[in-house]
Amino acid sequence: MADTHPRTHERRILGTELLWAFGVGILVAATISMIAFTALTRNINPPSNVERIDPKTLHLSGEFAEQNLGTRVAADGSVTARIIATQFMFVPHCVAVPQGRLVTLRFASPDVIHGLLITGTNVNTMVVPGFVAQVHTQFTRTGDLLMPCHEYCGLGHSEMWATVQVLPDSQIKPDANGRIGCAQH
Ligand code: CUA
Repeated sequence: MADTHPRTHERRILGTELLWAFGVGILVAATISMIAFTALTRNINPPSNVERIDPKTLHLSGEFAEQNLGTRVAADGSVTARIIATQFMFVPHCVAVPQGRLVTLRFASPDVIHGLLITGTNVNTMVVPGFVAQVHTQFTRTGDLLMPCHEYCGLGHSEMWATVQVLPDSQIKPDANGRIGCAQH
């Protein structure tokens, strides 16, 4: 080693560096392709909706007032569900949605940070006081899905969950105000 010419030495270092750069390059490319693949084929995206709402007054008026909670079908046929995440429940406790249609879910919290997922779907978000958490999704199968809070929010955290009732499109019968509720069972 001692008699190796410095140039040979440098070339070997360069070789090693290039090898590492190549390895890291492959990892970065694989990570980016995985993100692009899940975004394009499975609709898994980082939350991008920044919409502010005053947590102190959201229950008094506006879209998160009690009479506006739950699922509503608008005149243009779009479906939006509005849900409040609060210590320690979701309001409403059961949310009816149609199968196979684009559904917009909107959440707000008047107290602390909550989180939620809907089992078997791509719905998974935090609900941070001061912001509206919005998720678009399409429910592929009918049936009852569990929607638990998945962010520790206090002593009642483990009791905080709701049901998402996915109904066949033919069973969706909005009332005069466009509201749909869970079927009794
Ligand atoms: Cu809400 Cu945990």
